[in-house]
Amino acid sequence: MKIRSSVTGMLAALTVVGATVSCMKSGSPVGHTGFAGAMAKLLGGDSSLPKVQYVPDMADAPTMKPQENYIEPPEDAVSMSAVLYPKTVEEAEANLKNPLQSDPQVLALGEKMYNTYCIPCHGAAAKGDGSITDLYPRPPDITADIYKKRADGFFFYRITFGANIMPGYGHATAPHERWAIVHYVRKLQGESK
Ligand code: HEC
Repeated sequence: MKIRSSVTGMLAALTVVGATVSCMKSGSPVGHTGFAGAMAKLLGGDSSLPKVQYVPDMADAPTMKPQENYIEPPEDAVSMSAVLYPKTVEEAEANLKNPLQSDPQVLALGEKMYNTYCIPCHGAAAKGDGSITDLYPRPPDITADIYKKRADGFFFYRITFGANIMPGYGHATAPHERWAIVHYVRKLQGESK
């Protein structure tokens, strides 16, 4: 750029003058061919030499936009702590197995989680009669036969990502808590008349 090079030129000229003056003072014959002179040349005082950037790391660093990762992970890279989910509910139903065995402890956890996250809409017995359903669209009875026939992976996926107007609870619950909810829903299905 024009302005920049003329500023650099001025600085270089000043450096040369400074170097020459100090050389004259000390009586040394080095003149502007000494270190300062070389720097002045390199910084643009002599247009016949290639320009050198001094400590260019900031100017050359990749720019980063707000909310952007400094280094993009390579394609298909996966975080070591990532939990990978199937892309569709059908895939989840076909492939995911409940890693937990149903036992009193797991059922107690499932009941606690269900009564925290599901009960306002689905109701205590999962019949779709939760306390907010006078204001909020009533969910289906998930103890009905069509839901008894669905595999565990279906429920896990629905709890994680939601279903149409039902919000997902993947952000609020750990995977093992969701699997515990699935066991608890199975228990409610077994008790349903
Ligand atoms: C804010 C209310 C609300 C909450 C909380 C809620 N649900 Fe739902 N749920 C719904 C509604 C409404 C539907 C019907 C969604 C639709 O098909 O539009 C539904 C549907 C479902 C279905 C059937 C999905 C399908 O594809 O047929 C399942 C299973 C289910 N919910 C389980 C749960 C579980 C387990 C929880 C607790 C983790 C939960 N829901 C929390 C409102 C809720």
